[in-house]
Order: sequence, then structure tokens, then C-alpha cells
Amino acid sequence: MALAWTCLVVEILFLISTTQGKLAESTVFRPGTLPDTTAGAQVHAHGGDIFAVDTDNGTLFHWYGTTQKLQPGWISEGIQIYSSWNLADWKHEGVILHNRDITGIPYRPPYRIERPKILHNAGTSKYVLLFHVDTPAFEYPAVGVAESSTLTGKYTWVRAFKPDGRNSYDMTAYQDADGNAYLIRSVENAFLGISPLDDDFHDTKGLCSATAQAEAPAVFMPPHPSFFNLFIIGSHLTGWSANPALLFQTKTPSLCDARVWLQTSPARGQGSESTFESQAAAVFPFFYEDGEVLFIYMGDRWNAFGPGSVGNASYVWLPLLPTPDGSYELVYYSEWSPASVKPMLQAAKRWSWRKAVALWWTRLWYMASSWCRWLHAVSAGLSPQSVRLPPMRHSLMHAAE
Ligand SMILES: *[C@@H]1O[C@H](CO)[C@@H](O)[C@H](O)[C@H]1NC(C)=O
Ligand SMILES: *[C@@H]1O[C@H](CO)[C@@H](O)[C@H](O)[C@H]1NC(C)=O
Repeated sequence: MALAWTCLVVEILFLISTTQGKLAESTVFRPGTLPDTTAGAQVHAHGGDIFAVDTDNGTLFHWYGTTQKLQPGWISEGIQIYSSWNLADWKHEGVILHNRDITGIPYRPPYRIERPKILHNAGTSKYVLLFHVDTPAFEYPAVGVAESSTLTGKYTWVRAFKPDGRNSYDMTAYQDADGNAYLIRSVENAFLGISPLDDDFHDTKGLCSATAQAEAPAVFMPPHPSFFNLFIIGSHLTGWSANPALLFQTKTPSLCDARVWLQTSPARGQGSESTFESQAAAVFPFFYEDGEVLFIYMGDRWNAFGPGSVGNASYVWLPLLPTPDGSYELVYYSEWSPASVKPMLQAAKRWSWRKAVALWWTRLWYMASSWCRWLHAVSAGLSPQSVRLPPMRHSLMHAAE
């Protein structure tokens, strides 16, 4: 009898522990909404990302981004962070950096604060916050750095710098599974430049790869790639107006080894011409209970021409689903959950003739692009290993330090 009771209690505990982890799998996302916090305020975390922390109680998601953008100039007062066990009920954890904390910029405050990203530095045991800092009129395009010994802050201002001595606009920071950290940013608004970060993540160590012109970069790396190892979603440069997203893909396993970036458009179906009225902020890997991963696209709907304009910007979260040719596509659902798209992930794994043929085409295309790149480099007298950077625009060179 006692044994039966023990079994029942253990089973109930087991049920509770497994349902806890599964909470977020059934969370329903509705693109174009601005969720409320558990205290009833709007969640303002624009241009940000998710930082997931594994705890004994399951995954605790942290969503951070800029505070509401305000006129004049659509400037944010700071960067703030929220936490949730299920990606639906968000608790405000506080403002982690204020606009007034920023110093050392040769222009008067307030400053433009855009696209914050947080990395954990195992060497210094610090959380490092990197973001695009600028004047309201974009006169000092730089990267702001702040750090804290806890994720939820408060962060201490470190400095503003121009990575590798060049103007830096939209940016993201990415840390791969080996802990290598990179800054990916729009250099002079001419191309996306990739530079490894130094030991304390306060500086860059020189450009090592570049894509074509894009802004709003977001990096993701599938744990079991079917062809491409690395992806960067970005957008064209059309201000607050939405445009069709770009997807840069490469086969090399590290951001700095990437010599060839094949470019495509990931959004599919009706609304794809405006990426469903959104621009990428980040892509975060969502792990199901069984270890399967779903890449969730976090976009900002800037709402420049809608009621309340940019001050009423909302979010567009959508699944990135694998395609037969080894890439990913962004598909629109007015309502969806990780659970509702899981059958699509499983179907994509199955072998089919269509997939085999598509993958061979991708292989051929990639090989041809690599050869062309090599031929171009050799005929231009460059070493095939050199990074060929797109030319800088002269008007902007003067603004660079
Ligand atoms: C543990 O997680 C559940 C949701 O899975 C949450 O409701 C609860 O508050 C968490 N407990 C603690 C101590 O944080
Ligand atoms: C924000 O946008 C929503 C959806 O378009 C609209 O219903 C709401 O009235 C807007 N809020 C403001 C303050 O304009």
C-alpha cells in the first residue's frame, strides 16, 4: 500500500516536472501584437533578443530590448529585460541600462540606443551588453559596451567605440557553441562586416568576413545542418518601412571562415514582400523537450505609418522552417505555437527524392560560387584566403574616425 502511494506521488511529481518544461511548447504566438506583462504594462523590448537560462525548474527565458521609442527622433530611454517560464507571461525585471549612463561620446545626450545583444563571457564571468549607440541624427555610429556580473543587471557603462575604426550601424553579437564571440554589423551602411571580439568582449579584432549590403542582422546556426552551417537574416535599407528579408548562408562552420555567402529571400507566401511587415531583431533556438530545435524569428513591426507610429511598434515572431535544399524559410501564421509547427520539422527530416535532388543542386551551386570567388580573387591578384570587402562609400569615409 505504502509502495503504491509512493509510486503515485512520484508519478505526479514526474508529470509536474515534465509539463513544466513543456509549458512554452503550447504557447500561442500572434504576430503583430504587443503583449502585456504580468503587471499589465506593455512589453517594450525592441530590437532585442532572448537569453535562455537553464535552471532546476526548467528554462527561464529572458527577453530584453530597448524601451518604448519616443519622439523626437524615436529615441529609447534605456534597455530593459523581462523574464518568463513559458514565453507568454512576462515579468518586468527592470531597466538594465539608462540613456543617461552613456558617456564619452563627443556629442550631447540623449543618444540613440538600438539592437542590444547580451553575451556571457566565461573568461571574465561577466554579461556583456553591446548595442548600436549613436546621436539622434546618426552623427556618431558606434558600438556601446556595458557589463554586469548578473544577467538582469544593472549594467555598468564601459565605453563606446567604432569597431575596427569604422562607422557601425545596425548590429548583432553572436557566440557560437565553442564560445567564440563575434560582432556582425553594418559597416558604413555598405556591407555586413564580421569581426571576432577580443577576450573581454570590449573590442573587435579586425574584419574577417563580409556579406553584401544589409542591416538588421540576426545569426543562427543549426546544431545538425543538412547543408549550410551558418545563416544570417538581414534586411534591405528602407528606414522604418519593411522590405523583403535577406538570408545569407554559408557552408563553413565558423563566422570568420565564411568566404562565400549565398544570398536568398527566406520569406514565403502572401506578405513576404514586406517580411510580414517586420524587420529581424534576432533568431533564437527554441528547444523542445525531446531536444529538437526550432528557430524562432523575432521581428519588429515598426508601425511607422500605423496608429501610434513607431512608439506603438509590435512584434512578429514566426517559425523558420527547414526547406528541402538545406535552407530555411519564414512562413506566416496568424496564430501558431512550437507544438503546432513540430510536425513540419519532423517531415523536413525525412528522406525524399525531392530533397535529395534539391540538396545536389545546392551543392553544385555552392561549388560554382566558390570557384567563381576563387577565380575573381586570383585574377585580381589577391590571395584566395583574403577577405574581399565591398568598397566604402566616400562620403561616409570622412565621418569615420
Ligand atoms: C517554476 O516554474 C513554474 C513554471 O514552469 C513557475 O510557475 C514557478 O513559479 C517556478 N518556480 C520558481 C520557484 O521560480
Ligand atoms: C497601437 O496599434 C494598435 C493596433 O493597430 C491599435 O489598436 C492601438 O490603438 C494603437 N495604439 C495607439 C496608442 O495608437
